[in-house]
Amino acid sequence: MLNKIENLKNELSALNVSGMNEVEELRIKYLSKKGIIGKFFDEFKTIPPEQKRAIGAALNELKQFATDKINSLKESFESGDNDAHGLDLTLPGEPLSIGTRHPLSIVRKEIIDIFSRLGFVVLEGPEIEDDWHVFSALNFPPEHPARDMQDTFFIEKNPDVLLRTHTSSVQVRVMEKEQPPIRAIFPGRVFRNEAISARAHCIFHQVEGLYVDENVSFADMKQTLLYFAREMFGEKSEIRLRPSYFPFTEPSAEMDVSCSICSGKGCNVCKYTGWLEILGCGMVDPNVLDFCNIDNKKYTGFAFGMGIERITMLKYGVKDLRLFFENDVRFLKQFHSAF
Ligand code: DAH
Repeated sequence: MLNKIENLKNELSALNVSGMNEVEELRIKYLSKKGIIGKFFDEFKTIPPEQKRAIGAALNELKQFATDKINSLKESFESGDNDAHGLDLTLPGEPLSIGTRHPLSIVRKEIIDIFSRLGFVVLEGPEIEDDWHVFSALNFPPEHPARDMQDTFFIEKNPDVLLRTHTSSVQVRVMEKEQPPIRAIFPGRVFRNEAISARAHCIFHQVEGLYVDENVSFADMKQTLLYFAREMFGEKSEIRLRPSYFPFTEPSAEMDVSCSICSGKGCNVCKYTGWLEILGCGMVDPNVLDFCNIDNKKYTGFAFGMGIERITMLKYGVKDLRLFFENDVRFLKQFHSAF
């Protein structure tokens, strides 16, 4: 009998429950008249008198123990400590996944930061434009083949309403409104009627730069762009300007930066040339200043334009431009920014 009492006590100690209903069930199981402890008392009547004293004391103690245990379980639910309907509230929570910035936003911000340090302000212009701002005021004569350099989306039958093919249109908008000194960059979306491939898309992003003042020289442009290249691609970067043609700049150039992947030694990214083309630039054509009512005898300026996708691809080694537009989180979450 004493053994049975001891075993039941151990059983009671180990009891745990997850709700008030179960506590009541346990009370009935152990403490009701017909419960287990009740049966022990029935059995008690049949034991020899010389054992009654010891077993009686043990039985009373067991009953008290069971009552205390049931009460303490009941209390824990009443105070709300454990009332989680079977849930363990102490487990750590499910982590929330926090979104990341789009790689193009990261690089656009970086470009803006670099030029801000040189005193360039950020301005924007409309995506739906007219012929004047996208072509004519930028010195593209009517019917000139240079217009075919950029395949244009026209919005209406009226060929004067179109989606801008480059952010150079914002140069015109700004110069029409403000007199020099002008030192600004214009980030924005541009549109071209091109087949979508790993290297081209019909929508992409550019950052345009413009600096117009007295005595602005080609050397100023070179120094500005060298600073940009070193901030963006590393302090060992070199630049190279190749003569080129744009209607709105004279002279015009295309700028290459030394390949940061092979340090100029030659690799498949730079096609074994050691150089990567990153932007177009030049001295603002005096005709453009004139179209915008800026005195081209007094002022000179330089301009440049670059594709954000291209810079991002070179910086991060992205091989397919379409990845920027698919918004696959497995791609996007690889990019981290400090802002
Ligand atoms: N607008 C040109 C393009 O989209 C890029 C460009 C070249 C912009 C030379 C400029 C520049 O401001 O000076 O291809």
